Amino acid sequence: MLNINNVHKSYKKGVEVLRGISLNVEAGDLFAFVGQNGAGKTTLIKCCCGIHDFEQGEILIDGVDIKKEPMRCKKNLAYVPDNPDMYSFLTGYGYINFICDVYGMGDERKARLEELSRRLDIQKSLGLKISEYSHGMKQKIALIGAFIRNAKVLIFDEPFVGLDPFASSELKKMMREFCDNGGCIFFSTHVLEVAEKLCNKVAIIKAGQIVASGTMQDIKGDKSLEEVFLAGGE
Ligand SMILES: Nc1ncnc2c1ncn2[C@@H]1O[C@H](COP(=O)(O)OP(=O)(O)OP(=O)(O)O)[C@@H](O)[C@H]1O
Ligand SMILES: [Mg+2]
Repeated sequence: MLNINNVHKSYKKGVEVLRGISLNVEAGDLFAFVGQNGAGKTTLIKCCCGIHDFEQGEILIDGVDIKKEPMRCKKNLAYVPDNPDMYSFLTGYGYINFICDVYGMGDERKARLEELSRRLDIQKSLGLKISEYSHGMKQKIALIGAFIRNAKVLIFDEPFVGLDPFASSELKKMMREFCDNGGCIFFSTHVLEVAEKLCNKVAIIKAGQIVASGTMQDIKGDKSLEEVFLAGGE
């Protein structure tokens, strides 16, 4: 569903930040993407979402090339950035309705919003302006905006940052359910315990190259993911 083939990317000429990345995220996969600060996680995620261009390689979303048909890809893809930047003059309701309008959703949005906002415990604040929200509240609205659409591929950049323990626990359940229903999620995180418990697949990136990737069981064996990570991923 998300196929990344030999992607190379540099911000400055001659300095490659992604050095030939290949990964495959299949339907049903809950895929953790881990690596040190500055390793290239956000850069790859932004390439997958069509925000950054890249010099070499190919990224397919549900079989469609992000470079050739970005709009078709974006219909099947929902992305939550590491620092959601939303129109601060809109209310939570206004923002979610805007997203639903853009993606052509009808009245079914009402029941979905009710359910998702109840699960993330933000229903009482939907009428407030986003400028009045805390970081965690913004994160919840951005996540609802991703889950409410009928996207096949969800891409999250550090989705647990800023969420309280109740919301984190609920988000983990929502992610698991989404993948159990045939979707797939690719997300970056520094919380290795969460990745280890939640995900069936994992990739470790180091200085722009994948040093390990595969099923969680194959990568960590009898060790913890933290032990494997701290040992350099090999
Ligand atoms: N807009 C940019 N212009 C130039 N260099 C950038 C830009 N964004 C990122 N970089 C560089 O690319 C490299 C990878 O950064 P990236 O943000 O992808 O890392 P990351 O793995 O997401 O790190 P973190 O865990 O801190 O979020 C770093 O060396 C960073 O300095
Ligand atoms: Mg990042």
